[in-house]
Amino acid sequence: MRSMDGMSILVTGGGSGIGADCARRFCDQGARVTISGRRLEKLQQVQENIGERCHIVQGDVTRDKDRIEMIRACLEHGEGKLDALLNNAANMYRQPVDQYTEAFLREAFETNVISAMMLSSAAVPHLEKTAGAIVFIGSTHTKRAFPGASPYATTKAALEGLTKVMAAELGPRNIRVGCILPGAVSTELNLRAGLFAADEASERYDAVAGLHALGRIGTGTEVAEGVEYLMRAEWVTGVALEVDGGIGLGVSHF
Ligand SMILES: NC(=O)c1ccc[n+]([C@@H]2O[C@H](COP(=O)([O-])OP(=O)(O)OC[C@H]3O[C@@H](n4cnc5c(N)ncnc54)[C@H](OP(=O)(O)O)[C@@H]3O)[C@@H](O)[C@H]2O)c1
Repeated sequence: MRSMDGMSILVTGGGSGIGADCARRFCDQGARVTISGRRLEKLQQVQENIGERCHIVQGDVTRDKDRIEMIRACLEHGEGKLDALLNNAANMYRQPVDQYTEAFLREAFETNVISAMMLSSAAVPHLEKTAGAIVFIGSTHTKRAFPGASPYATTKAALEGLTKVMAAELGPRNIRVGCILPGAVSTELNLRAGLFAADEASERYDAVAGLHALGRIGTGTEVAEGVEYLMRAEWVTGVALEVDGGIGLGVSHF
């Protein structure tokens, strides 16, 4: 397995939640990590917490010029190279089927799918030089059906399909591609989508804990361990790895 020591890694959406925990774990192992996001103060908080191995670049993944700047900033911080890209930035998009609006669906796919496709495309020439890796963050929403969440679930299903084709296409260029499907982790994701208020979060996550075979929700660091595996394992590509406490099993105590 490759070591993370000395790797240069770009993590989108690194100012909070799973992305911030990935950045922390990778830096702890000697990587130089560039995190991106729209809110500068969130990125700064993570950087202050991690230290100088963590570099920040403010930007919106849906904007082409911002994506180019993310890669440029990562190359600069990473001594001219890029070893791994983590496409983590996303939003929760929920809308009942009979209330779909085209603008909402377009925004969901633009943010959660097309941005990750375009950023990956821009990263290919750099990853080719390092025999690097691209990792997407999917979701257990492709394993368990949550009514109302079809816009989000379909964006995550798209990333799983993308992982396989991209892996086949980029394998001959020695670039590996993988996808992590996390179970529930308490982050800002659902709060930002207005699904519930901050003071309801622990009650909501307690309610979902029992859906996991292991009886609890996960942590961002546990998801980061799965991401790390896909970045380091040199003979693994095209994989959608469930790091989900067993929620994807659909356990039912009949
Ligand atoms: N938490 C869970 O239970 C769970 C389960 C399965 C999968 N996931 C996935 O895990 C990933 C991380 O989510 P999280 O749970 O850690 O939630 P989070 O804390 O809300 O993180 C998402 C990050 O993405 C960034 N982002 C969103 N839109 C962006 C844009 N247009 N441009 C740049 N950055 C953008 C946000 O920062 P700004 O708003 O500052 O830009 C935020 O820091 C997502 O792909 C999510 O779908 C989460």
